[in-house]
Amino acid sequence: MNVAVIGAGTMGNGIAQVFAMHQHAVTMIDISAEALRRGREAIGASLARLAKKGSLTAAQVDPILARVAVATLVSDAAGADLVVEAATERAELKFKIFAELDAACRPGVILASNTSSISITEIGARTRRPELVIGMHFMNPVPVMQLVEVIRGQATSDATTRTVMELATALGKTPVEVNDYPGFVANRVLMPMINEAIYCVMEGVATPEAVDTVMKLGMAHPMGPLMLADLIGLDTCLAIMEVLHRGLGDDKYRPCPLLRRMVAAGELGRKTGKGFYPY
Ligand code: CAA
Repeated sequence: MNVAVIGAGTMGNGIAQVFAMHQHAVTMIDISAEALRRGREAIGASLARLAKKGSLTAAQVDPILARVAVATLVSDAAGADLVVEAATERAELKFKIFAELDAACRPGVILASNTSSISITEIGARTRRPELVIGMHFMNPVPVMQLVEVIRGQATSDATTRTVMELATALGKTPVEVNDYPGFVANRVLMPMINEAIYCVMEGVATPEAVDTVMKLGMAHPMGPLMLADLIGLDTCLAIMEVLHRGLGDDKYRPCPLLRRMVAAGELGRKTGKGFYPY
């Protein structure tokens, strides 16, 4: 299958990698040539890691990389049999990209979004094929995490849902079907926990290290919520909390002021070298 992935950032390059590892020809599309270069580099590093621990043979690495082409225009997705959009988490940007994809792609092609919180129903409504628009929400790091949250918008058809569930399974993932409400399930549950952990730090209840240790050793989480926030990106965490707050209208979802302050300061986590921890 020819798959177009829109966006070469952390999620986009991870998604491109997983499709390429399962024999699909991928076109990774980003407006920034630099982002494409870094995206390919990240795929190379991840494949090297998998080869080092024996999940892949060294001989498999180059053919996988060779299956990932790059391009800079959304219209370069025209030949795709499936599109997965993983652009920056901004509603207006996604609406524009989906309108362009709808115009460029053949009728019948499924347009999936990796959005972590923007309404699939609203995205679908920007196209003339809302029955073919669906959420395909991968988790970070994409090559490692088992889950794909499959989100049905108001108009998403049973056939589209079935196709995407089967596709995710064929990629070695476990798909879970959920409906389109703010934050879906993953972030509806995860983000209030992260936000509350940030309140604990702001109120001086405990240090980031102490909060993370409580959750790691007490609840068997693989990493604490603050380290996870740094991995996800604090700007993304804030954007998702705002979607929950606005979409559900309940102040229990109000973003922590310390989260806002860190984002304003550019302390976004791993990607900027500083968040709750230095990198
Ligand atoms: N590519 C390939 N392999 C990778 C990798 C990558 N990018 N990152 C990690 N790995 C592999 C490692 O090689 C290692 O493999 P083995 O166990 O087979 O040796 C394994 O993953 C574990 O990695 P590490 O030993 O480096 O470190 P770790 O044991 O601490 O695991 C982790 C790292 C997998 C990230 C783990 O800490 C974890 O599961 N953390 C939680 C991640 C999480 O919750 N993700 C969801 C975030 S929310 C989201 O994505 C959705 C959203 O909308 C915000």
